[in-house]
Amino acid sequence: MVNQYPPISDKCRHFLHGGDYNPDQWIKTPEIWDEDMRLMKLANCNAMSVGIFSWSSIEPEEGLFTFAWLDTIMDKLHDNHSFAILATPSGARPAWMSEKYPEVLRMGPDRERNLHGHRHNHCPTSPIYREKTAQINRKLAERYKNHPALILWHVSNAYGGECHCPLCREAFRDWLKRRYENDLDRLNDAWWTGFWSHRYSDWSQLEPPAPHGETSVHGLNLSWKRFVTDQTISFYKNEIAPLRELTPDIPVTTNLMGTYTGLDYTKLAKELDVVSWDNYPNWHNDWESTAELASKISFVHDLNRSLKGGKPFMLMESTPSHVNWQQVNKLKRPGMHYLSSLQAVAHGSDTVQYFQWRKSRGSSEKLHGAVVDHCGHENTRVFKDVAEVGAALQKLNCVLGTTVRPDAAVIYDWENRWAIDDAQALKKDQKGYLETCESHYRALWKRGIPADVISMDSDFSSYKLVIAPMLYMVRPGTAERIEKFVENGGVFVTGYFSGYVDENDLCFLGGFPGPLRKVTGIWAEEIDALYDDDKNAVVFGPDNALNLNGEYEAREYCELIHAETADVLAVYKSDFYAGRPAVTVNSFGKGKAYYLAARTEERFLDVFYQKLADKKGLMRALHCELPEGVTAQLRCGGGRKFIFLMNFSEAEKIVDIPGFLYKDLLTGEMYNDRISLLPYGVKVMEEDG
Ligand code: GLA
Ligand code: ZN
Repeated sequence: MVNQYPPISDKCRHFLHGGDYNPDQWIKTPEIWDEDMRLMKLANCNAMSVGIFSWSSIEPEEGLFTFAWLDTIMDKLHDNHSFAILATPSGARPAWMSEKYPEVLRMGPDRERNLHGHRHNHCPTSPIYREKTAQINRKLAERYKNHPALILWHVSNAYGGECHCPLCREAFRDWLKRRYENDLDRLNDAWWTGFWSHRYSDWSQLEPPAPHGETSVHGLNLSWKRFVTDQTISFYKNEIAPLRELTPDIPVTTNLMGTYTGLDYTKLAKELDVVSWDNYPNWHNDWESTAELASKISFVHDLNRSLKGGKPFMLMESTPSHVNWQQVNKLKRPGMHYLSSLQAVAHGSDTVQYFQWRKSRGSSEKLHGAVVDHCGHENTRVFKDVAEVGAALQKLNCVLGTTVRPDAAVIYDWENRWAIDDAQALKKDQKGYLETCESHYRALWKRGIPADVISMDSDFSSYKLVIAPMLYMVRPGTAERIEKFVENGGVFVTGYFSGYVDENDLCFLGGFPGPLRKVTGIWAEEIDALYDDDKNAVVFGPDNALNLNGEYEAREYCELIHAETADVLAVYKSDFYAGRPAVTVNSFGKGKAYYLAARTEERFLDVFYQKLADKKGLMRALHCELPEGVTAQLRCGGGRKFIFLMNFSEAEKIVDIPGFLYKDLLTGEMYNDRISLLPYGVKVMEEDG
């Protein structure tokens, strides 16, 4: 396994720092461009994403291409020792195109064609739109292929949404024919269409799910989502064909959106050279602690790193201050910009990029945070914060390309989420698959135990602990790989609402958790959903193998299980299932499989994972306990070990590190005893070999 990766581009052996730059909005005031260059240097920036929404500036009339402004910007960036992350403009299109070729516009599930406007409003199937995007991408590649500023392609912007136009519907039918090998009977069986007389007798009857049509056939819903991902990838491949042909050495990315449910990023990521994502947390909100939110963001950073097996990713967008689309667009408080930027780096990002470099003068994002405000100069709090991050990144060249190979992984799987979200069961709006994955992850985060976030198709063999909360869908091969993992000594944790359906969303017959029954050694007979005020608890028995005691609140879900080959560690406290198993462990080969039948309070997950981590000796970033709100993350490579110690709390925190020696890479200080972290404080340290 690679432990150190090359930089994103050979042309730049530093962290990238910069953001979305829209000089075409200032085409009539080129003096602003010069001012931008001056300010970029002052802000310690070295990489700008240009051209993301520039189609109408590059092709103002059909077939008329005007690159002069972009030539100037590319040259200016280069002259100022900066680089261009050059975008393809398909995220929005010129009005002439929508007017002349309405088929490029998207159609909603109601079968109404959108009017021109907004962005992300295109049909991924339209041959004309594909032709136009390929053409403009070819022009860009031809023109800039040898430009010294070009380091990366930023393809389109935040792919998402779906189109229900006749072309897409036809493409869906073709996709289904391929998937079910032209056998309509197979499709009917896989989708259980006998239900409500939904059997299809001809392919022409197949329509995408729509609120005024079909939404009750889960196999159809799942197929449509898979199709939307595949069709988006097909559109993306059409976009990048000319880039691959003309600039084979320039890497390609598209900016992802965290845990966005519309596309299966595990599939899309395979087609990217480097993963990049846009991160906009609600810092300082009034419903969760800073630490709780930080752990959720860490989860997504780890997910992005894991998408390409540990390869460093890019923080492609973040705001230097506030956004303009949240309910409350709160400022980042002093220290938070620095901390949250280094948090991305701590988890494997080789960049800190922003939306946006300069606030636009008009339209809907004019009041969205930016490095350069409408005042136009560098004497602002936000500008100084950005320059400070840039200065810190310049000291971290040794961290570039390093990564972490965690002992632990949490399975977060897109298709599983689709199926859970679609299931009419449990508590209607509180199924909380993502939240459950986050809560298990948080128990590791609090102790500075690095973790990957992976799909169920991943290779488990490098881990000591694999956690699969709510593994409702189990695709073929998954259970076998879990069994092998446990047989070889791995620890597997799963629980309620697992092993219910197969890859077609058909329930497993013969007892849940279906194919996981053997490895977990339990049979899950029923599941009880609890009202918010219902109380139950899991109570640990005497001399249980984990040496846990006491009781922990059970909330929301209590599954009624039978221990078959598993040992019972804890039982339910009350209700008609009092005394029945709530936590079990099954010895399987050299390993163990734990089953958590109930959703519990956080305190339980903390002690449970502490026990497992200690038993398995899981890798930790620091060899000590961490105070509340503090986490530590690790990046290694070239025989060196870098620790990011971060205080996501509003209080000063002391971390005791007796007997170890660390060098602060940002200040040069040495620590060998205790480290004090100011509120929102962060240290980047190298462990003394
Ligand atoms: C998204 C988009 C950007 C911008 C920001 C605003 O991530 O990619 O173009 O609209 O949101 O926060
Ligand atoms: Zn379409």
